[in-house]
Formats: sequence, C-alpha cells, structure tokens
Amino acid sequence: MNRTHHCCEITKSDAGSTVTLSGWIDTVRDHGGLIFVDLRDREGRTQVVFYPQSNSYDDNLSRLKPESVIEVSGVVEPRSEETINVKLRTGEVEVHAERLAVLNDSLTPPFPMDDEKADRVGEDLRLSHRYLDLRRPKNLSILRLRHRTSQSVRTYMDENSFIEVETPILFKSTPEGAREFLVPSRLSPSEFYALPQSPQQFKQMLMVAGVERYFQIARCFRDEDLRADRQPEFTQIDIEQSFIGREDIYSLIEGLFSQIWKDILEIDLPLPFPRMTFFEAMDGYGVDKPDTRFDMKLVDLGEVFAESGFRLFSSTLKNGGVVKAINAKGLADITQGELRDMEDAAKSMGAKGLAFIKVGKGEWKSPIMKFFSGKERASLEESLNVEEGDLVLFAADEWERACTILGRVRLESVRLLQKRGIIEHAKDRFDFLWVTDFPLMTRDEESGRHVSSHHPFTSPVKEDIPLLDTDPTKVRGRHYDVVLNGVELGGGSIRIHDPELQRKVFEDVLGIPADVVQSRFGYMLESFQYGAPPHGGIAIGLDRLVAILAGVPSIREVIAFPKTQKGQCLMTGSPSPVTPRQLRDLHIETIETKD
Ligand code: AMO
Ligand code: AMP
Repeated sequence: MNRTHHCCEITKSDAGSTVTLSGWIDTVRDHGGLIFVDLRDREGRTQVVFYPQSNSYDDNLSRLKPESVIEVSGVVEPRSEETINVKLRTGEVEVHAERLAVLNDSLTPPFPMDDEKADRVGEDLRLSHRYLDLRRPKNLSILRLRHRTSQSVRTYMDENSFIEVETPILFKSTPEGAREFLVPSRLSPSEFYALPQSPQQFKQMLMVAGVERYFQIARCFRDEDLRADRQPEFTQIDIEQSFIGREDIYSLIEGLFSQIWKDILEIDLPLPFPRMTFFEAMDGYGVDKPDTRFDMKLVDLGEVFAESGFRLFSSTLKNGGVVKAINAKGLADITQGELRDMEDAAKSMGAKGLAFIKVGKGEWKSPIMKFFSGKERASLEESLNVEEGDLVLFAADEWERACTILGRVRLESVRLLQKRGIIEHAKDRFDFLWVTDFPLMTRDEESGRHVSSHHPFTSPVKEDIPLLDTDPTKVRGRHYDVVLNGVELGGGSIRIHDPELQRKVFEDVLGIPADVVQSRFGYMLESFQYGAPPHGGIAIGLDRLVAILAGVPSIREVIAFPKTQKGQCLMTGSPSPVTPRQLRDLHIETIETKD
C-alpha cells in the first residue's frame, strides 16, 4: 500500500476508484455493524467506513483508537444526501475500507485534540506535549502561515537584490542593551561567547565589506523578563543597505509589508504609511507605539486649569508640569472594580492618583467637581466634547509621565469599551505607522548617565550634531519604528559611519571608558577607517508579524517550540543541570543559592 491521496483531496469525481490514505485517527464512532473513522493528515480529513463482519482487516479493528496512525485502502463512495457533511471539504464522499494497516498505536492523549476544547486546556499541559498540540489543524496552519510569510519575505528581498547572509550565533559580549546569554569557552578558560541580541554589528561589517544589500531571517537572544510579545529567543527579518537615507527604508519596508499582506491575506495595503514624530505620538497617545485604530486622544488642559481653584492642577502647571485628560466616550457606567483596576494601571506607570468625572443623567459626578468654576467646566466640556454617558480621566504630572499614564489608561478604556460592544475589536483593520524623530539619548535618572534610546550606532540628525556637546538629550536620532495596531513591529536607523563621531558617542556622550570602547568596539572603529559606506537598516520582529497575520494574541502561538514566562521549555525540560564533568571541562564552578 502507498498513499495515493491526501485526506483533503477526495471528491465525488473519485467515486468508484480505489484510494490509499495514511494519517492519524481523529475520531472513532462504533455503530455495531459499521465503524466510522475520521482520518486526518496534514491537509485535511476524510471519513472512512469499516465493516466489522468483513475479515480483511487482519483483526486490527480493536486498534482503531484516536491518534493511532493507520494506512487504509478502499473504494470512494458518494454519501447519501442526508449524511453529507457540508463543513468538510471531503464531506460528500467516504472511503469504504478494504484493507487496514496500523502503523503505530497511540496512548490516549493527555488533552482533547479538538481545537475548541484544546484551547481551553492549560497552556503548560499543551506545551509539555507540544508535538500533540502542534498536530492540531489550527496550529499546523499557523506553522504553514509562518513558512509562507518567510517565503514571501525571501522572494521580495531577492527581487530587490538583497542577499541573505548568515552571521555567527557565538558572538562576543557587548553588554549594552538587554542582558545576554553567555556561553563558556572550553578552549579559552574563563572566557565566554555571548549569543547575539541581534546581528547588528555583523550586518554593519557586511556593509563595510561591500555587500550593499543584506538580509537575514535571524535568530536573536535576549535574557529579558518575558511577556506575551517577548521570548528569550525570537526571530528578526534583519535588513541593512548602503548608500541610502531614511526614505529608502520607508519605501522598501512599505513594499515588503504590502507584498506580505497580498500574499498571505489577499489584502491591498494603502501606501504610503502615515508618519508621526515621537513627540506627536507621546503627546497625543501617551506611547511611542500608538494604536491609531482608536481615536480617544490625549487633550492638553493647561489653558483650562492655569488659574484653577483645584490646587493639584494649578500647582502642577505652575511647576512646569501638565494637566491632560482623555474622554472615554460611553464609559460612565464603569464599575467600582473596573475603576480601581484602572487606577492601579495608572499607578503602575507612576501616577499618584486618577481623577475622573462621570457624566450621567445630566450630572457631572466627581470628587473634584466642587473645585471647578463654571468657566472651567464649560471649557472642559468644549475641549473634550463631553456628553451624556462619558467618563473623563485626568493626569497631572510632568509631561512624559502624564502622557504615559494616560496612554495606559487609554488602552484600558478601549478594552472596557470593547467589552461593552461600544468600540469594535477592529481585528481586521491594519493601521501601520512610522514613528520618527526619537531622541538619540535619554538620561537614566538612577545613574545620571546618558543611554542610547535605541543603540549606540544610530546616527544623529545632522543639524543636531553640535548639541552632542551641550545637550545630548535634545539630539534627534535618525531612527524609525514601524508600528502596527499598537505593536512595535520593527525598528532601525541610519547608522554612524564616521569613526570619530562613533568614538565621540561611545566615549564623550555615553561615558564608556576609552579602554572599554577599544576592547568591545575597537574592530568596528578600525573598520570604519577602511572606507565604510554610509548605511542604514531595520529589523522586523517576525514572531510579532506572524502573530498579527494569524490573529493570535501571543507570539508563543506562532513559535514551534516556545519557552514559558520563566524561560523554560516544558517539553524537553530545559534549562537543566549538567554533570560535574561537563562543568570541569568548561572551567566552571557553580554556587548553590538558597531561596
Ligand atoms: P530592536 O531591538 O528594536 O532592534 O528589535 C527589532 C524588533 O525585534 C522584535 N523583538 C522581539 N520579538 C520577540 N521577543 C523579543 N524579546 C523581542 N525583542 C525585539 C520587535 C522589535 O521591533 N538591531 C536593531 C535593528 C536595527 O537597528 O536595524 C534591533 O535589534 O518586533
Ligand atoms: P486628593 O486631593 O489627593 O484626594 O485627589 C483628588 C483626586 O485626584 C483623586 O481622585 C485622586 O485619585 C486624583 N489625583 C491625585 N493625584 C493626581 C494626579 N497627579 N493626576 C491626576 N489625578 C490625581
């Protein structure tokens, strides 16, 4: 016997012919005189009928159990009108089995394999048997979607003359960004490799090498605290190009996404993507990756409350801070519990409190209403378009904190309004956005040092270069992020290619001692002295991209073998202890720590 068809392929036109199918048993229904088996393979399902009174199955019928692997031959028969299954592609036919081979038996799976039921099972159980979890049609289709996305990327990049180059996984420690994973070297005692956080330095070296257009679907490693959209190892579509400016990257990437959306979702994306500066994003949406599918912008109330009798507002303004608010339209019926959660969310962003006004039955209800004059109320009503049923939420703080607090409150309000059906989920809307003009540096309050907003290789905007000496936080970087529906999909920049400017950023601005710069980045500074072309690039998070294309909330669902929040692989049980012998070979001694 040899497979002649996949389980999705058989139709009425095959009636009368003999076929051989192989796959896994989805369900078994024993009707006494007849046994119905739904046979499943990678491509679909077909109903197979067995006749217990026939002896052509070598006594194997008792082994027809869910998830066992069989091969079956039989004749295709049309189903009678009343037994047609319209939900199944092969639902008009069934195979009347004549021969059966059981290729392997299966234990009863630890969770139901039915998509709907399996989705309700704890994720840990599914991840510990991920090979079964992946066998579900829904998950196999995500793997396929990811493959098709990578394929689409490769085709597009190839058509645009980019060449894919592999860069090392055993790299050098450069503790600049996130924490790194270290790999001890056996041949160089007490020395370590680090796994790359991204191929950033190698791709820049490829530009010095004259590659001109590089891309790679690259695995990256970051030892960060994990969330739904972060994994310790993840994949980037990594891109670098020589002799270009920011506009070239914008159109390259717009073309890439437009190709992917056409290939995968059959959607024509409107181009070009809108653009917003970092300041506009923060000031209007309270975040550097605004979800512009929803309006509800932050409104500045400095003029309304400059002379307010509400001390908290007027004194914040006098001290150089801001008073801002959002109008969550239709959320006046927020419950006490929801309001408390909202306040906790605000506090997690540094808020001291969360003043609010609920508008119901023509009345403005709020503990702070008593402080407002009639004029203040009228201009508040006008600036925020306050109407019956609205909930207004305030933040009084220094600009950046007030923005991020309300940014968080805005997203929480959207969630509550979606729950009530007042705002639609907008899952099939794709609001792309370029965010530009990020500050090159920010000041780390704790250490009092300047830190790169993105990474130290980003070039400053030319006319801001003199500010590097006087006020580095005022310097704009030639950095850009591409944002989709409130998710940071990717980021990149035009790089520094002048060795003196790069050295100045490391030493004078970031304050890294010269000898450390030399040992970490010396090769890079040296390479720039051998004719480094102007260059720039970007990296797109492939896992986040596929999660959005698949419409799933977590990137764990689009990674074949993801790690848990604690960074563990529940299937293989990693990380795990190693033998003393292994440690000795690596010149490593471990210390037991008590919890
Ligand atoms: P950046 O650090 O912004 O840039 O990363 C680019 C994109 O990678 C994705 N990403 C992640 N996805 C899953 N899990 C993670 N832990 C994770 N961290 C990042 C995001 C992010 O936008 N070398 C630069 C790019 C450049 O300048 O060209 C870089 O790595 O989608
Ligand atoms: P209080 O005068 O401290 O009772 O605060 C009055 C209201 O303002 C309460 O609802 C607080 O939660 C809120 N509140 C306190 N500090 C702030 C702030 N910085 N921004 C916005 N609201 C605040």
